Amino acid sequence: MIQKATIDAVFENARVEEVIGDFINLKKSGSNYKGLSPFTDEKTPSFMVSPVKQIWKDFSSGKGGNVIAFLMEHEHLNYPEAIRYLAKKYNIEILESPVNSQEKKEQSEKESMFVITEFALKYFKKSLWESDEGKRIAHSYLKERMFDDNIIKDFDIGYCPNQKNSFSNYAINEGYKEELLEKTGLTIINLKNKIDRFSGRVIFPIHSISGRVLGFGARTLRNDKKVAKYLNSIESSIYLKSKILYGLYQSKQSIAQEDLCYVVEGYTDVIQMFQSGIKNVVSSSGTSLTPNQIRLISRLTKNIVILFDSDSAGVKASLRGIDIILKEGLNVKVCSFPNGEDPDSFVKDKSTEQIKNFLASESKDFIQYKASLLAEEIKDEPLNKSNTVHDIVRSIANIPDRIKQELYLQSCSKLMNVSEDVLFSTLAQIQNKSKKNLPKNYSNTSEQLVKTKKINEVNSRFELEKNIIKLLLFHGNEKVVLKEPVLFKGDKTGKIKTKDSKVTCKVYEKIYLDLQQDEIAFSTSIFKSLYEKIIYSINNSDNFSIEKFVNNLPIEMSKEVSDIILNEDQYYLHDWSKKNIFVAKKSELLSQWVFEIILRFRCELIEEKVSDLQNKTKQNKGEHHDNLLEEIIQYHKLKTVLSERLNKVI
Ligand code: CTP
Ligand code: MN
Repeated sequence: MIQKATIDAVFENARVEEVIGDFINLKKSGSNYKGLSPFTDEKTPSFMVSPVKQIWKDFSSGKGGNVIAFLMEHEHLNYPEAIRYLAKKYNIEILESPVNSQEKKEQSEKESMFVITEFALKYFKKSLWESDEGKRIAHSYLKERMFDDNIIKDFDIGYCPNQKNSFSNYAINEGYKEELLEKTGLTIINLKNKIDRFSGRVIFPIHSISGRVLGFGARTLRNDKKVAKYLNSIESSIYLKSKILYGLYQSKQSIAQEDLCYVVEGYTDVIQMFQSGIKNVVSSSGTSLTPNQIRLISRLTKNIVILFDSDSAGVKASLRGIDIILKEGLNVKVCSFPNGEDPDSFVKDKSTEQIKNFLASESKDFIQYKASLLAEEIKDEPLNKSNTVHDIVRSIANIPDRIKQELYLQSCSKLMNVSEDVLFSTLAQIQNKSKKNLPKNYSNTSEQLVKTKKINEVNSRFELEKNIIKLLLFHGNEKVVLKEPVLFKGDKTGKIKTKDSKVTCKVYEKIYLDLQQDEIAFSTSIFKSLYEKIIYSINNSDNFSIEKFVNNLPIEMSKEVSDIILNEDQYYLHDWSKKNIFVAKKSELLSQWVFEIILRFRCELIEEKVSDLQNKTKQNKGEHHDNLLEEIIQYHKLKTVLSERLNKVI
């Protein structure tokens, strides 16, 4: 764990405009910076960075947040990785907090294994580029396969000399522990013999998404059917096959940018496609896709195209892949290659343009793909057709989103010429059978409808809550003079009347007290915790600043806040000066705003409450009924009072 002090130091030193400036060409624009969005390929800049508030917002993709959020979105780092990145950039020493001894042992073992894979990588590269054997045998092999020197370097390809244990001996001499060499799978130890697992092979290092070397794939140079073509690192605490995608480190940027990921079978497919200009590609390394691998991709895009061989093993793997991808909620297409070709062989003699055209025209959605597997000549035989339709509906049953399911059923109905009704009931059958295996967020259609209705209802409430947050962020710490209605007993009749009296307080105090008085709760959980955090921050610091506040927020919230702030920035902040509103006037307007927003919020809540009570009266006809009606009447009264006040304010 990185210590809090380090994280604080990072936030104190890191400047969002400097960090982003390393990746994007930013130009000053008023108090902000502007640039081209790295997340879309726009022509006019809509990416904004605010040095004052230390946040950024991309208006074309809707992303935004603080400096950490940028590194997470753009470089696909996780939180600790982003902190480490910034610490390095700003020369801040990273202090780790002590962990218990077991964790420490595991952590330090993992770290030592990474040191070893890094060391091995250097050795393999050196032996490819500098040793006689490497140049003569391995490098010429790669040339023969048409890999340019640049791509060989980009993918850190290496070579392990064709001797029993040149690497292992060297590593042991350099002080690396045999035990760890064995655990990484680089060395095979039996009866005191230490043997290089990968000797005589070309080495394809496998990186994590952030670029650490997890393990290796190693190809033989021999043409001997009895020798395994590829050997891979063994499973270990750093090499977990089901969580690894080859090429992800090199392709992540492009996957996010293209909003699409091609998945191929082999190492060489990735490299060759990359070299041909198709850079959004990863490989599952010969296994069928796992849910963990899909989740890695889903951080970058929701769209996957499977490019597997058209031999029977390839088709089988594609079919398995389809269902796993659908289950994870992603979209999937399949692109088949002509018989006997894999992406590696196919792209070699073609231009980027040709390949792109081929991929675009041959990628079929999974329904078309499954239908296409049904051979032309038996297409209309009822039994075959029915099997295929069943098969398609079974895949559709994996999709967690009901709307998508419905759209796919419609498309299947058209393509296979079967009525939608039949397909719907088939789907229902399949789902009944596997009810136990339903995805977590699954809900049936009527539930879904209720939810959608709710969403519309709470929309105005959502806007109000957002406005309160906005008000607190921009003006929470400012003083306002408010005319508060004070109750008093009027003249001789003793009737209660109200009179306005002037009260000076800070905006956040007024909001906090009023909302607390009504026991008002925010309906959106992120606003609720933002609200609590803002109130706490203003109350506990002498000078609240948005900048400091944003930097200390968790990522999700910082995104929300930057949405609020920078969207607003475009018009609201300049309004004051545009309309020639001066300070005195501003404070007056501010107090109006505070009033208005609180009143609106309270009215809104009363309306909700009333409609809730009305529903109850419909179901409840007994004596309780009268109590409910009485309550409704009271609320109506309160609402009239509040509305009157609101009218006075506006
Ligand atoms: N694979 C493996 N072990 C094997 C064979 C294959 O791990 N014995 C994995 C590798 O990741 C390989 C992928 O499966 O890249 C696809 O296998 P295959 O199509 O046989 O190899 P290619 O990638 O076409 O290899 P090459 O072009 O080098 O012949
Ligand atoms: Mn191949």
